[in-house]
Amino acid sequence: MASGGSSDADAVERIPLAAVPAGACIALVDGRVLLSRVDGEVVAYRNACLHRGAAMEDGFVRGGMLTCPAHLWRYRLADGACVTGPGQLAPVPVTVDGDTVEVVVPDPPRADDSPAQDEAVSAMRMRLLEHARTWTRDG
Ligand code: FES
Repeated sequence: MASGGSSDADAVERIPLAAVPAGACIALVDGRVLLSRVDGEVVAYRNACLHRGAAMEDGFVRGGMLTCPAHLWRYRLADGACVTGPGQLAPVPVTVDGDTVEVVVPDPPRADDSPAQDEAVSAMRMRLLEHARTWTRDG
């Protein structure tokens, strides 16, 4: 992962590679980082759903897709792309050194961090308005 928004490049959390599951997720760094394994690759993202910011380590993983446990938004774990709304989970830099996984500790979330909810609501509003403009009783 190339970026993750950390300003403290020296802060790294290490865990054994064997502790990183495939087909599930775990949380690290006080719940700030979501970690999993996809096709043998370790992936790490900010652990905050783009919908309303829920932690997702207890989400359902199947076929490389993570489903948020709160309201079921879905993400492709390989790249963090949201497939039920706009946006992408913020990647967190992670490396594998032998049997150890090193995760760069991201900054704590800021109070003004806002998920893509505003963008999703705006897109939905535009679709509804477009539908309302063209809707007729006869179909
Ligand atoms: S917080 Fe994840 S889907 Fe709503």
